[in-house]
Amino acid sequence: MSDKVYIFDTTLRDGEQSAGISFSAEDKLEIARQLVRLNVDIIEAGFPASSPGDLAAVAAIAREIKGPVIAGLARAVERDIDHAWEAVRGAESPRIHVFISSSDIHLAHQLHKNKEDVLLMARESVAYARRYCSDVEFSPMDASRSDPEFVYRLLEAAIEEGATTVNLPDTVGYAIPREFEAFVRSVFEHVPNIHRALVSVHCHNDLGMATANSLAGVLAGARQIEGTINGIGERAGNTSLEEVIMAIRTRRDFVDVHTDVATEELFRASRLVERLSGMQVQSNKAIVGKNAFRHSSGIHQDGVLKMRETYEIMDPKTVGTPAGGTIVLTKVSGRHGLRSRLEDLGIRLDGPEFERVHEAFKEVADRKHEVDDRDLQAIVSEQTSVTFQEQWTLDLVQVSAGDHAAPTATVRLTGPDGETRQDAAIGDGPVDAIYRAINRVMGVQNRLTEFSVKAVTEGIDAQGEVTIRIEAEGSLYTGRAADTDILVASARAYLHALNRYLHAAAVRAAGGTTVAAART
Ligand code: KIV
Ligand code: ZN
Repeated sequence: MSDKVYIFDTTLRDGEQSAGISFSAEDKLEIARQLVRLNVDIIEAGFPASSPGDLAAVAAIAREIKGPVIAGLARAVERDIDHAWEAVRGAESPRIHVFISSSDIHLAHQLHKNKEDVLLMARESVAYARRYCSDVEFSPMDASRSDPEFVYRLLEAAIEEGATTVNLPDTVGYAIPREFEAFVRSVFEHVPNIHRALVSVHCHNDLGMATANSLAGVLAGARQIEGTINGIGERAGNTSLEEVIMAIRTRRDFVDVHTDVATEELFRASRLVERLSGMQVQSNKAIVGKNAFRHSSGIHQDGVLKMRETYEIMDPKTVGTPAGGTIVLTKVSGRHGLRSRLEDLGIRLDGPEFERVHEAFKEVADRKHEVDDRDLQAIVSEQTSVTFQEQWTLDLVQVSAGDHAAPTATVRLTGPDGETRQDAAIGDGPVDAIYRAINRVMGVQNRLTEFSVKAVTEGIDAQGEVTIRIEAEGSLYTGRAADTDILVASARAYLHALNRYLHAAAVRAAGGTTVAAART
């Protein structure tokens, strides 16, 4: 039997560190549930010391999710480890992941510490974490650019203090596969107690080599790979888990290891993360891109029709790519068709949520004729992003704008008391005018921190999906909405964010906490 490679998913921690991504606690739970279906071994659910909201979100995952180990990240200081333990202690199998920088450049310019200080901190923090938890992972950050002798000493000390996994991060995506393989091999040769821990690799994709480096690490003996779904993460991202998992499965002949991942769930995981992160998967992305299994040229089509393997090294079914990937839904499609298409996309809805999505689907289908997967994802994002009763709803938005007119917006909203209120405002642009008019009606103090609009599909009748973030009373709240009219989508997205804030404020006033309020 070949060796098992453990899959450590950090979509919810390193993945969330991508610029522009902020998962709500509900988003995190939904992704964690899909990671269970995918059968990953470890879920790094967050960095609990980074905010009370993240701690609450990790704790919610730890309580609910059964199966995988639930890890919380901590710097090599007691406060972080306390927070990490508080967050993961409810898990069936908790892990504390402690890290500290090891490269000269980080020590000199970021930590302002010498190697002996760092060695002591590593030792003390692993020992401290072990007092709470029998499963402790240790990472020397920026290991691939560090003095290897120092990395060996750190790992030896961490293992001596009880680290059960030692991880080798290529934090800035600098390594070249052959070099990284040699580095990982050298760890086995120079760390005397290395056999007492599992060796892991954690690669970033700055030079586009994260997958190659992770596999190189496995060839050298690493038996845990860390990465994210769709490769989301800091800068150019992390190792794409779907890539390494399928590389291991497809090239078993060469790597002679296996994972326990249910690869048929990869496509659904990818689409779920795409929808909740708002970070679109490029069409030519390996394994999960829209074109990953599409054949366009005549010669290729001819070959595939004669025998699939002529141009396909993987069967799309093994990653869960829906056979009907090109089938579109129209307004005459029934509920059954809609439900099965949603399931292909990893979206399981019941009761009122499904009804809302069905209604919205019919509205879009009326206007758009064809509703494809991306439209569906946008509809679901909007219809399911609200898990509480919205206090304010939009009745009407009307805008007048042009190159010779001051943008003016009129809005009519229904408030919590069922009364409608209307107001108008002039703005710097049509969206600004809408937001000013809404502010005049609702009177909620807030600051818009982010506004983005993207076309969900191609064509003049495309839906526009608007994502916005507002800051109110020191917390961030996200709103999302899609419509074929981007001004209507902008108004609804803003209202979503304001409603989320009002809901969180009401819960706080009643003395409670909500996961929705925690990080959104
Ligand atoms: O990239 C990195 O070094 C990390 C560590 C915290 C493991 O994400
Ligand atoms: Zn990282």
